[in-house]
Amino acid sequence: MIVVIDFGSQYNQLIARRVRECRVYCQIVPPTADIEFIKSLNPEGIILSGGPSSIYEKNSPKIDPAVFDLNIPILGICYGMHFMVDALDGIVKKTDKREYGFAELKIKKQAGIFKDIHESTTCWMSHGDSIIKLPKGFVITASTDNTKIAAAANNKKRFYCLQYHPEVEHTPKGKRMIQNFLFNVCDCKRRWTMKMFAKKSIQEISDSVGDKKIILGLSGGVDSSVTAMLIHKAIGKNLTCIFVDNGLLRLNEAAKLKKIFKQHLHLNIRFVNAAKLFLDALDGVTDPEKKRKIIGKIFMDVFEAEAKKIKGADFLAQGTLYPDIIESQSAFGGPTSIIKSHHNVGGLPKKMKLKLIEPLKYLFKDEVRKLGTAIGLPEELVWRQPFPGPGLGIRIIGEITKKRLAILKKVDAILLEEIRANGYYKKLWQSFAVLLPIKSVGVMGDKRTYENIVAIRAVTSKDAMTADWARLPHKFLAIISNRIINEVNGVNRVAYDISSKPPSTIEWE
Ligand code: XMP
Repeated sequence: MIVVIDFGSQYNQLIARRVRECRVYCQIVPPTADIEFIKSLNPEGIILSGGPSSIYEKNSPKIDPAVFDLNIPILGICYGMHFMVDALDGIVKKTDKREYGFAELKIKKQAGIFKDIHESTTCWMSHGDSIIKLPKGFVITASTDNTKIAAAANNKKRFYCLQYHPEVEHTPKGKRMIQNFLFNVCDCKRRWTMKMFAKKSIQEISDSVGDKKIILGLSGGVDSSVTAMLIHKAIGKNLTCIFVDNGLLRLNEAAKLKKIFKQHLHLNIRFVNAAKLFLDALDGVTDPEKKRKIIGKIFMDVFEAEAKKIKGADFLAQGTLYPDIIESQSAFGGPTSIIKSHHNVGGLPKKMKLKLIEPLKYLFKDEVRKLGTAIGLPEELVWRQPFPGPGLGIRIIGEITKKRLAILKKVDAILLEEIRANGYYKKLWQSFAVLLPIKSVGVMGDKRTYENIVAIRAVTSKDAMTADWARLPHKFLAIISNRIINEVNGVNRVAYDISSKPPSTIEWE
């Protein structure tokens, strides 16, 4: 495995992804990590990430320099390079001017991490400080017009450093450079498979939980379903899942999920229908954040009340994913975390005094889907589009009433039926309808109508951090619009959302 030291770069997840794409396991570790902890992971190589700090800033992140005595290959990227050079007695120059953008990299020798890479290739620069003197034993291995020391190496010690970012798409041969580091320098093997992960994870759960009980909030989404299945394989009947129907699910969703869970998973599930509780509390509420708070709080109350009925439970399982961990300051503590605090991390556990089990916490979404398939989860669960916790509550803009909920459910069901029937469901990250709080004039037959407007949102994305609106064919959009207006009373206009994230978000509220 490879350890990535998180110095705070926004590209850290990309580094981890690149390594795992090569089927080598990789874990991101904060710079505060103890050297003994790093040793215990038994890494075949270490990557020091980039970061926003300058090495000479007072509180710039630093790792124990003892990593340089571990006798394993180290690759320093941007800030990681500065840290390496500074720690080994070279000199980094602080500059006020940033070099940002494409640069032509001239490689001196096609060896080490530059094996089989053309002597001239494009790279992506994004740095303030530069190296002016290399530590003893290092040589320059590549330069650009602006940056003489764009790459350097101490081949004997197997230390490599790059001023540019090999992990981003803008460095076209970057993937190859990372592969070279893994296979040519570190001698890693392509061994990381989901079957292997599943086996290890099931064993770990079973070792740490023994004959104790675990509770899990099952939403029907891929993350909680995979978590449930994995734990079920480890401890069987000692896992109890709680499924809370908040009344804000898609049309017939609760019943469909019940059927799938019963047919395929043989899980021990408690279904709680709390729709009335949620809808009563949301009566008259229009502010999106208030809606979220109310839905979150009632979910917690209902879940807790149900969980109390399960005697002797010591653990709470959650389907937290790696991006949630990296982005959540409270959960991880590394400098990258500051970007965003995620709704999936924290919350339940603190209040319930249960020990947390998060078996997916080092996986990305596409890896979770692969894991789901590897452990035999049915396609219809593995390939479900993400659905937000507050459900249709944040897709009815303005007040949530039974009547408006019924309209949106019908519209959404038609949309999804067409999306599935025409082979778009798996291609889209999410597709859904939004009910707007305004009415528009229309004409049906010979009569004037004054009815609701719905918007259709369909996006492509890799991880929900960024998203693009899907270029669905006009012919297909026409079918959807016709069906909705013809079949749903109370709707006389359909709009298609053509905004990307950023600057818009995926959900409307
Ligand atoms: P946005 O709208 O921020 O959404 O682009 C990004 C992803 O998160 C989902 N989402 C939520 N999920 N509770 C959730 O569990 C929420 O309050 C929430 N808000 C947005 C959204 O569907 C998308 O997948």
